[in-house]
Amino acid sequence: MHTIDTSQLNTTAQAYDAIAPQYVALVRDGLARLPLDRSIIEAFAGLVRQTGAGPVGDLGCGPGYVAAHLRDLGLDVFGVDLSEALIEHARALYPDLRFSVGSMAALDVADGTLGGIVAWYSIIHAAPADVPVYLAEFHRALAPGGHLLLGFFESGGEPLTPFDHAVTTAHRWPVDQLAGLAKDAGFQELGRMLRQPLENERFQHGRLILRRE
Ligand SMILES: C[S@@+](CC[C@H](N)C(=O)[O-])C[C@H]1O[C@@H](n2cnc3c(N)ncnc32)[C@H](O)[C@@H]1O
Repeated sequence: MHTIDTSQLNTTAQAYDAIAPQYVALVRDGLARLPLDRSIIEAFAGLVRQTGAGPVGDLGCGPGYVAAHLRDLGLDVFGVDLSEALIEHARALYPDLRFSVGSMAALDVADGTLGGIVAWYSIIHAAPADVPVYLAEFHRALAPGGHLLLGFFESGGEPLTPFDHAVTTAHRWPVDQLAGLAKDAGFQELGRMLRQPLENERFQHGRLILRRE
């Protein structure tokens, strides 16, 4: 299988390390003003609770506010991120949660042990050819019937497009293309959401809820 270029991971980690305080200030209270985003995260949490299987990883967790929201929704959650600086912020903000520095392409969990995975805007910086590698790792780590929630920038009818994200290059994905890759990786799509950009946002947002076959 294709392997991930670690220089790209270093670039991403360094970019987030360099702007960590500003990034945290920008996003940490974001869910409070985004009821549609909260609703899909809450739907995911409901599905995980229904299945009742194993802890939930917030992968590419940044400062950990999605992990904290999932904790408030009754889930046993931990966070992983490449950026040491963001993980320090997460630990300071939510000392009751477990956060570790690492890559979501190589999770320190046994096969089939997680009840859920959230990757909230964390595959956006991946080279498109690397995304199947992440999906394969999520599939390995999830228990059968476990749930996956992907949050990403959606391309709004255009082809897969790189753009100048404020931190480091990111991609806007056609929702059908990402759903197709997830299907190829062994996930069944349960639902999706497209959220239109707010006044201060540039792009449409996509969310996919998937279940490991
Ligand atoms: C746009 S930020 C999103 C952070 C957080 N989920 C949020 O919504 O604020 C992307 C995050 O994904 C992390 N990330 C990107 N690739 C990663 C990888 N391979 N493993 C772990 N974290 C990764 C970055 O370090 C960064 O914190």
